[in-house]
Amino acid sequence: MKRIAVIGFGFMGVVHAKNIINSGILELCGIIDNRSGDIFAGIANTGNQGALDLPVERLRQTPVFKTLEECVNTVQPDAVVICVPLFLHYNLTKKALNLELDVLLEKPFCPKIEQCRELIKLTEEKKRLLMVAHCIRFAPQYEFLAQCIRDERYGKLRWLTTSRMGGEPTWGVWQNPKIKKTCGGSLLDLLIHDLDFVNYCFGAPADVKVNLHCDEYWEVALQYNHEAAISIKGGFLHRNTAFVAEYAATFERGSLRFCTLQPDVVHAGTDDGSQAVTVTGDGYCEELKHFADIITTRTQSPRCPPESSLQAIELCRDIRAKVE
Ligand SMILES: NC(=O)c1ccc[n+]([C@@H]2O[C@H](COP(=O)([O-])OP(=O)(O)OC[C@H]3O[C@@H](n4cnc5c(N)ncnc54)[C@H](O)[C@@H]3O)[C@@H](O)[C@H]2O)c1
Repeated sequence: MKRIAVIGFGFMGVVHAKNIINSGILELCGIIDNRSGDIFAGIANTGNQGALDLPVERLRQTPVFKTLEECVNTVQPDAVVICVPLFLHYNLTKKALNLELDVLLEKPFCPKIEQCRELIKLTEEKKRLLMVAHCIRFAPQYEFLAQCIRDERYGKLRWLTTSRMGGEPTWGVWQNPKIKKTCGGSLLDLLIHDLDFVNYCFGAPADVKVNLHCDEYWEVALQYNHEAAISIKGGFLHRNTAFVAEYAATFERGSLRFCTLQPDVVHAGTDDGSQAVTVTGDGYCEELKHFADIITTRTQSPRCPPESSLQAIELCRDIRAKVE
């Protein structure tokens, strides 16, 4: 069983730690967080996912460290899951790779394109495995859509629109105005989920158009050398407003609709009638299973390679350039 340490025990660190414990295929051997005080206090309800149903006692038994070096010297992990604010992604990933560890790095990859490129190169040199945690690629409800696009069971895709909106985060580092400024706004923090998903389905677009941009709200149209029209919209709402993500897709012979308010159902409509397709499962758990698989088989992820996570960063750069 591969031994995993989680770096950064805020919202996503807690989610990954829980999923590692519950996975049955990975062992949580350490938690690294440089915060002072009890890092387990108040963990049950952070982030935008509601109550997390945590194995609190098991989490509390996990050794806690202030630095990665201390963790490596004491409990010798095989891999780390990095869940720190974006401005620390580059340094900590580099440090982990140089310590001969495999890395699952929370999205987005790194703020600068050169940093992403350098880490991809270092991963190859060190013969380690690096995956950026683009969980929507692994969310069964989105994978269902990706499969329908691939196998054309409803014919060819005509258009797809996705939406992702929620209150600006109120937890963790988002409370620090200086760090908040480094998180990349709604484009890099939130909409990158859909941009990466679309990139997963179709590759890099030929062109991108910003149809609407106001504060932290975006409406973006992606143009490809095929006929389907793709639009992505969303952003941050006022703090403490509910989070909702959804998609609608129309194919030659049917349409699909999904919304996180009804998380286990994808609605399909065709000339023959409507169908509520049950699609259960959790993107974070599926992504972790995939990471466990690649570090066991020692193969770079075919489903979420770091080069493609770099493309998502390039896409965000191109979108931002349109409004500057
Ligand atoms: N996949 C998703 O759906 C999703 C959702 C939210 C956040 N994220 C990503 O997860 C990452 C973390 O976001 P979050 O919301 O969990 O943040 P957070 O503020 O809740 O947690 C960050 C944690 O990192 C710790 N930390 C900071 N510097 C550190 C250091 N040098 N060493 C060790 N620990 C350190 C902080 O003390 C804090 O506990 C970001 O990259 C964010 O984009 C992903």
